[in-house]
Amino acid sequence: MAMPLWFLSASLLFLSASADTQKKVADNPADELVVVLNNNRTAENASALYNNPGLACIALQYIKAFQGDCGAIGGPNAKKPADSEFVETFAPNCGVQVSTLSPITGRLLGCETKYVNAQKAFSEILMTKNESLDLLYNKNNTEVGAGVSGTDGGSPYFWCVLLSSGKPNSSFVLEGGVAKLTRPGCFSGANDECSGTYDWSQTRRLWPYATGALIAIAYAFGL
Ligand SMILES: *[C@@H]1O[C@H](CO)[C@@H](O)[C@H](O)[C@H]1NC(C)=O
Ligand SMILES: *[C@@H]1O[C@H](CO)[C@@H](O)[C@H](O)[C@H]1NC(C)=O
Ligand SMILES: *[C@@H]1O[C@H](CO)[C@@H](O)[C@H](O)[C@H]1NC(C)=O
Ligand SMILES: *[C@@H]1O[C@H](CO)[C@@H](O)[C@H](O)[C@H]1NC(C)=O
Ligand SMILES: *[C@@H]1O[C@H](CO)[C@@H](O)[C@H](O)[C@H]1NC(C)=O
Repeated sequence: MAMPLWFLSASLLFLSASADTQKKVADNPADELVVVLNNNRTAENASALYNNPGLACIALQYIKAFQGDCGAIGGPNAKKPADSEFVETFAPNCGVQVSTLSPITGRLLGCETKYVNAQKAFSEILMTKNESLDLLYNKNNTEVGAGVSGTDGGSPYFWCVLLSSGKPNSSFVLEGGVAKLTRPGCFSGANDECSGTYDWSQTRRLWPYATGALIAIAYAFGL
């Protein structure tokens, strides 16, 4: 029943600034999604995947390419960021060294107008199709990155999971070893408390979307 963290009032932001590191991880819906995903994999006797902050930052960039338009994810007006965007835009925006980009074995994307917690986002949005589960259990997967974003400080909410077969300690390597936080939105693996530095000034944009839309899509591709 988690409310989106970016809904929290300014006074709560001050409170959370003093929260300990343990809480920081728990306060990030993208990290929660990775925990849910890995719990599911281990329950299915698959290995847990490494939570790679570079890959996760790219997942959030991937969401941003849709500019808040849920309808662009699936259906007749679906669009998909070009693979070249990874090299030209996503990696540079994240400070990921382009030479360390590794094959993406799956991308899972979902959009909802109502915020749901990570468990529900996993089971009711992202994993409803058999193709999604096939991608999740692909034996070549070694690492994962998740991004979550709400447009206009709220609805619609986008969830993106990228899976990769890269080597955990030498793929999606961050320049200087530090993830560039790209607000608004949260990504996993960076030990980032998501609500802390949310920049409200970036959110005053209105995007048209269909009320009640729930769109999810899954596909694999090579980089
Ligand atoms: C996982 O492995 C255990 C022990 O080998 C087995 O009993 C169980 O059925 C397996 N679970 C799944 C989901 O395959
Ligand atoms: C893993 O997640 C899928 C999709 O939500 C679900 O159908 C399956 O039962 C889960 N597996 C386990 C062992 O919980
Ligand atoms: C999805 O997988 C389940 C179990 O393997 C199967 O029963 C079902 O028919 C599949 N659905 C589709 C649409 O392929
Ligand atoms: C795993 O990777 C190998 C080598 O790149 C490839 O041939 C195979 O098709 C992949 N398997 C899956 C399930 O994607
Ligand atoms: C990467 O990990 C492997 C095995 O986990 C280890 O042998 C190797 O030294 C690591 N490389 C670097 C650059 O940390």
